Amino acid sequence: MHKTYRLGRVDVPVLKGATLHVKPGEWVAILGPSGSGKSTLLHLLGDLDQPDADGGEVRFDGRSLASMSRRARNLYRNRSVGFVFQFYHLLPELNVLENTFLPALVGLHRWEYYRRIGQLRQQSTRLLESFGLGHRLKHRPRELSGGERQRVAIARALMNNPKVLLADEPTGNLDEATGAEILDLIAQQHRDGLTIVMVTHDPAIAKLADRVVHLHDGRIAE
Ligand SMILES: Nc1ncnc2c1ncn2[C@@H]1O[C@H](COP(=O)(O)OP(=O)(O)OP(=O)(O)O)[C@@H](O)[C@H]1O
Ligand SMILES: [Mg+2]
Repeated sequence: MHKTYRLGRVDVPVLKGATLHVKPGEWVAILGPSGSGKSTLLHLLGDLDQPDADGGEVRFDGRSLASMSRRARNLYRNRSVGFVFQFYHLLPELNVLENTFLPALVGLHRWEYYRRIGQLRQQSTRLLESFGLGHRLKHRPRELSGGERQRVAIARALMNNPKVLLADEPTGNLDEATGAEILDLIAQQHRDGLTIVMVTHDPAIAKLADRVVHLHDGRIAE
């Protein structure tokens, strides 16, 4: 893929033919220095942003995202992938439980909402309990530690049972011990079959993955 940002009249090429194949069930770490385009690449994989025109494509299960209908693409973003960010991006007005089941509400009609909300609350409660957050369900994000916030963010990312977890420096804002807990949690999901693409600039963290690739000068090197 190619991705160029335009700043005023200046073109900033970030990805210059980056190619990555990820197999089902694989855990791939993308290692690269700050500014190398790791987040950019992850955003393209998750369809949060798109490559340049004629700048390549993202395929999922053999299908090009660009060839999908808008509805299919929305489903891809909402169901096929889950996103975890360095700075959690929880909604401050919602409590832990509500933040977690929010992705499952996307696209629901009102009548479906009333039919499904009980079950979604149960499902997200179980997920949060399995992450050791059963005693924090009614808390707001600001009342949580960084590690707790990231566990909520991972629960939210898993709420719709995605095929792929896209994680952008998921421990970048945490101390070492808390980061290790979060990585344990991610490793557990991987053992349960989840495909993971994780961005990091820390080689020690990248080592946990099945495969490490390097993003350098806009390209991927194995
Ligand atoms: N929306 C944008 N507009 C213009 N330039 C951007 C935009 N987003 C990123 N860039 C530039 O693209 C380059 C790559 O950014 P990106 O965030 O992908 O890097 P990164 O590898 O994730 O870095 P970090 O490790 O610091 O998170 C940087 O030089 C950045 O300034
Ligand atoms: Mg980044």
